[in-house]
Amino acid sequence: QIQAPGHLQSVTQPAAAAPPAGKLTIIYASQTGNAKGVAETLKAEASAAGMSVELFSAGDYKGKNLAKATHVIIVASTHGEGEAPDDAIELHEFLQSKKAPKLPNLKYAIIGLGDSSYEFFCQTAKDFDGFLSKLGAQPMLERLDCDVDYDASVAEWRAKALDKVRETLASGEAEVVQLPVGQTQQAPSPYSKQKPYSATLLTSQKITGRRSGKDVRHIEIDLEESGLTYQPGDALGVWYENDATLAAAILAKAGLSGEETVEVDGDKLSLKQALISEYEITAANPQLVTKFAQLSGSKKLEKLVSDKDKLREYAGNTQLVDVLAEKKTQLSAEQLTGLLRRLTPRLYSIASSQEEVGEEVHLTVGVVEYEKEGESRLGGASSFLSHRLAEGDSVKVFVEPNNNFKLPADDNTPVIMIGPGTGIAPFRAFIQERENRDAEGKNWLFFGDRTFTEDFLYQVEWQKYLKSGVVNHLDVAFSRDQKEKVYVQHRVLEQAEQVWEWLQDGAHVYVCGDANHMAKDVHEALITVIEQQGNQGREQAEQYLNDLRKNKRYQRDVY
Ligand code: 2AM
Repeated sequence: QIQAPGHLQSVTQPAAAAPPAGKLTIIYASQTGNAKGVAETLKAEASAAGMSVELFSAGDYKGKNLAKATHVIIVASTHGEGEAPDDAIELHEFLQSKKAPKLPNLKYAIIGLGDSSYEFFCQTAKDFDGFLSKLGAQPMLERLDCDVDYDASVAEWRAKALDKVRETLASGEAEVVQLPVGQTQQAPSPYSKQKPYSATLLTSQKITGRRSGKDVRHIEIDLEESGLTYQPGDALGVWYENDATLAAAILAKAGLSGEETVEVDGDKLSLKQALISEYEITAANPQLVTKFAQLSGSKKLEKLVSDKDKLREYAGNTQLVDVLAEKKTQLSAEQLTGLLRRLTPRLYSIASSQEEVGEEVHLTVGVVEYEKEGESRLGGASSFLSHRLAEGDSVKVFVEPNNNFKLPADDNTPVIMIGPGTGIAPFRAFIQERENRDAEGKNWLFFGDRTFTEDFLYQVEWQKYLKSGVVNHLDVAFSRDQKEKVYVQHRVLEQAEQVWEWLQDGAHVYVCGDANHMAKDVHEALITVIEQQGNQGREQAEQYLNDLRKNKRYQRDVY
């Protein structure tokens, strides 16, 4: 339950003759649900404080209504190369168009969610900030751009933003209604990111072959009596702990014992324990490298820091231990934790449908692993799930709904699914769901990986579905089985005529997997299909695909 801030008296104005002048409008632009979560908490806090408040997804909000609004808070996340979430594309386009109304009476606040490892960090929030201010709206407080471990900074900003709204709402003799106690927002499930469920690991099985260059696990988790439910397309949030050996190696590099006491969220614990359970100690990030460059005075790192692109590339390919190894430096416990981001849960696309597996949830996890200095470097969450967790152990999880990756509501609609590598996960869920619902719509799956014999994830299941007719087409691309690389987008292009036919029949297209290369190349392939088969120019074809995206007929879950 969300607590009411303690400012109630100061805001409750006798509304007697005053017209209901002000209302807080909260709009979220969310791709995977994080921004939505922040917006929902804001709404609950605002209502608990007696404010009149309404909450919208950017996809459901008519931009011209901003002209009538008095106070708006926008929570916006950013994806890929500074793209707005699917739901927010229209509002984003509208506010920079000639049709956008002037907004001299609007007060606004914006908070951005993003990942500072990317070049276009919080771009969507920056865009909205720019659009609103250009239209004459006045900021109530400075925009906050949050990084992946946003919980603490968001909480602080929420309090500040609501204070500002309260001040101006009250002075404008706004409608301030006192809600009866207990009318705060009802959480859909008792478990959440902050309050995860301790589930039991049932199975963790390597599903790539012995000679595969990759280690991919099929994981089954028991949700037992938790009451947690999910839909195909949703993700499972997994909290993990770091490897104690890795924590020890980091301590040694920083010249620390691990016995030092540190304070995290008001709790005192040993530095070693904090590194295991509270901080991200695997992947580096640009800020970490920048801070360590200053602390260590490493010439190499100082040079890197002056070149943003090189810095991002280095940070993206280097783990914390290797950054510390650049120059031996004695750090204090606070200096070490000051380099680090707080641990955040990892989101995995769910690979099962509850129609098929009931109270279980399945994942397809690629174990991140590479060699450096003759040692292996492992991903934090994937190595926890695959190496440190045994069957029967408990793992803290929560469901993260993803409304931007959903099967068509109409079971007769055909679907095209493109999911190489672990991108296959949600499509296993889709097919399980459609089989159990006896959905009549046709299903076309494109899968790709390195080799047929070692990397064909869930091969037996696909063959069964193909035989029973649940999957109508299965096209595979094994990139390393021949001299020339063959990828899923090549298969899409080979089948251009039929892909176009399916699109004409109203098919929905789903893409899951690698965002850096695959999703871009598949996007290009789809444009080519539309150009060629639909006799359209490049711009027209792009518009066609953009319209599909707006109409939720082209959905992507890429990472
Ligand atoms: P590769 O590693 O042999 O180049 C799943 O990881 C599959 O995605 C692998 O077969 C991998 O091929 C492939 N892949 C790599 N880059 C890709 C791209 N740009 N488009 C599509 N698939 C790609």
